[in-house]
Amino acid sequence: MTFRHRHLLGIAPLAPPEIVALLDLAQDYADAMRGGRKHWDALHGLTQINMFFENSTRTQASFEIAGKRLGADVMNMAMQASSVSKGETLIDTALTLNAMRPDLLVVRHPASGAVDLLAQKVDCAVLNAGDGRHEHPTQALLDALTIRRKKGRLHRLTVAICGDIAHSRVARSNLHLLGKMENRLRLVGPPTLIPAGAAEWGVEVCHDMESGLRDADVVMMLRLQRERMDGAFVPSEREYYHRYGLDAAKLSGAKADAIVMHPGPMNRGVEIDGTLADDINRSVIQEQVEMGVAVRMAAMDLLTRHLRAG
Ligand code: NCD
Repeated sequence: MTFRHRHLLGIAPLAPPEIVALLDLAQDYADAMRGGRKHWDALHGLTQINMFFENSTRTQASFEIAGKRLGADVMNMAMQASSVSKGETLIDTALTLNAMRPDLLVVRHPASGAVDLLAQKVDCAVLNAGDGRHEHPTQALLDALTIRRKKGRLHRLTVAICGDIAHSRVARSNLHLLGKMENRLRLVGPPTLIPAGAAEWGVEVCHDMESGLRDADVVMMLRLQRERMDGAFVPSEREYYHRYGLDAAKLSGAKADAIVMHPGPMNRGVEIDGTLADDINRSVIQEQVEMGVAVRMAAMDLLTRHLRAG
């Protein structure tokens, strides 16, 4: 299968068969890694540069490990917020990096659309590691792979995405992906954290956890993204936890075998109860991290196949 895209900027442009092919390849990598394998040559001789203009722990580490396992030369650039106007900084940086002839650029940026803009200025493949509140495609793909492994399918599931939808690129990418696969999607949260117009996206909107979680197969919790909030969106964390924080009592309204997901970083006692997050019978949070490496390997492998052809 050839991946017809030059970049991975979002889930929106991907066709369902492309998503399935990427997940199948990631599944192969995941199985091999569970078997103990740690090295491949798919990216041998290629240069991967990670540019994170926003803090990240797991995503940056995951992309770095994925590149190294595939044999790439991986470089991490510590990008600090600059006082220069954002557009200028970004394009200058892009041109500078481009001159170093990387093959893969992994970019995280606080501004929605910044990664797309950068991709237009460089000659190599660009992977979006999260841009503002726009998209975070590898997160949605690793969530999908985790769901498929746990539920045996990626369609006709009831998925409740709960919490701070308004500021979440994870929610947006997941809505695209799970929507393309024909699932029943619910957004659950206070009205202040659900974007106006969400009801017209073909999803159900619930403002209480009881109706939102009813008969759900998958419960996906999101962090309150305070760094993207302009003012206060919730009265207090205590009040928020009381109404929207996931605990065993609220989860009991979902299906008996419902899985609990969270992209991390978690705020225990704010959006999720710590004990539930650690409950290996319900929570798949660690498997999400594990699948993250496999999905990023698959994405970088597919985006560089044309360099290996012939
Ligand atoms: C998410 C992100 O950065 O968008 N985290 C991640 O990539 N694992 C979600 C978040 O920051 O809450």
